[in-house]
Amino acid sequence: MPANITINSNTSRYHLNSKLLQRRATWLMRQHQVANHEMSILFVDDQEISWLNNHYRGKTGPTNVLSFPFADDADPCPGIIPIQELGDIIISVETAHKEAIDLKVSLHDRLTWLITHGLLHLLGYDHERSEKEAEEMWALETNLIHQLQSSRSYQMTHLAINVDHVATVRQARGINEPDPVTAAAICELAGAAGIVVHLREDRRHINDRDVRLLRETIKTRMNLEMGANKEIIEIALKLKPDMITLVPEKRQELTTEGGLDVAGQKKKLAKTIAKMNKAGIPVSLFIDPELKQVQAALAIGATYVELHTGRYCDATNEEQREEEYQLIASAAEEAYQMGLRVNAGHGLDYQTTSKIASLDTIEELSIGHAIISRAVFVGLDQAVREMLAIVRNASIVF
Ligand code: PXP
Repeated sequence: MPANITINSNTSRYHLNSKLLQRRATWLMRQHQVANHEMSILFVDDQEISWLNNHYRGKTGPTNVLSFPFADDADPCPGIIPIQELGDIIISVETAHKEAIDLKVSLHDRLTWLITHGLLHLLGYDHERSEKEAEEMWALETNLIHQLQSSRSYQMTHLAINVDHVATVRQARGINEPDPVTAAAICELAGAAGIVVHLREDRRHINDRDVRLLRETIKTRMNLEMGANKEIIEIALKLKPDMITLVPEKRQELTTEGGLDVAGQKKKLAKTIAKMNKAGIPVSLFIDPELKQVQAALAIGATYVELHTGRYCDATNEEQREEEYQLIASAAEEAYQMGLRVNAGHGLDYQTTSKIASLDTIEELSIGHAIISRAVFVGLDQAVREMLAIVRNASIVF
C-alpha cells in the first residue's frame, strides 16, 4: 500500500509520473519503518527553489533539493497532536533534469535519488555537519538506491496461468483433447510468466502424463500445486518443478476451498518443505491472508506464501470487498517485510485482478478459471493478452 505521500508539482514543463515516484518513495519510507508517516514532495522550477534557498538558507541561486523536517516547525505540544509528519521535500525538476543529462540517467531516476537524499534529511541525517556524516549519508543513499533497483517492485507483477481447467474439459469426454500441454504453450506464447497445474490425488483433471510433458515443454516456470501427500511428494521430487505450492486438498471439493492451516500442522509441512528444499525446489504455502499463517509459514522455512484471494473475489458488496482487500494488502506487507516472497490467487477475474496486481508486495498472480472461461469465446491467446494488459497497467514498473 502506498504511504501517505502528497506529490504536487508547480512546474508543467516536465511530464512527471507521480504514481511511479510515489511507489518508489513508499518503498524508501518502508525501508526506514516510517511508511505510516506523512511526507510531502513538491516539484518546482529553478526560480522557485532559488527563492526558497535564499529565504530559508541565505544562499544564492538554485539547488536540486531542499528538506524541511516537520519537527523544525512543529507545535510544541506533541501530547495533543500526534506527530506523524516527516516534513516536506522540495525538488527543482529543472536542476534535476540538467543533472540527469550530465549523469546519463533518466529524469525519474535522478528524482528518485533526490527524494532519497531529501528523506534522509527528514530522518535527521545531515552531510553538512561533518565529513564523517557526509560519508555515512552518501553510503546509505547509494545502498538504498541499489536495493531499490534490485527490489521486486522494479518488475511487473507476473501472471502465471493455471491450465487445470483445460484438463477438466478433456476429462469430461475422457478423450485426449483439449490438451493442457498445448494450452500451456499458447499461454506462454501470449506472454504468461509461468504455468500452474494441480496434480490431485484423484487425478480428476491433470494427470501424470500431463505433468511429465509439461516439465519437458514449459519454457517459463512450472509451479506444481499439490497436497502434502506421500505419493504426490514422491512424484514432485522426481519431476523437479521450478516450485511447488502446497494446498489443502479434499476429495469432495470442486476447487481448493480455503488456505492451509500452517499454524496447525507445522511439523508435517516443515518436513515436506525440508525434503523439497533439499532437492532444490522452493515451496510456497497457499494461505488465507492472516498474520498467524504468515508467521507460521516463515517459521517452517517456506520461500513463498500464496495469499488466497477467494473471499475478496466472492465479496457481495464493495464494503466487504474493501475489507477483504485490506486483509490481503496487510498480510502481503507483513510477509514481504519478513522476507517471504508473496504470490496471490484464486477466483481472480477481469474485474478483480487490477487491485491485487497493484500491490507492489505481490510478485505473481495465479489465475485459471477466468482466463480459460474467456478463452472459450475469444480464444486463449487473446484471453491471456487481455489479462496481461490488466496486470501490466496495474503494476507500475519502477
Ligand atoms: N491458486 C491456487 C492455490 C488454486 O488452487 C487455484 C485453483 O486451482 C488458483 C490459484 C487459481 O484459481 P482460479 O482458477 O479461480 O483462477
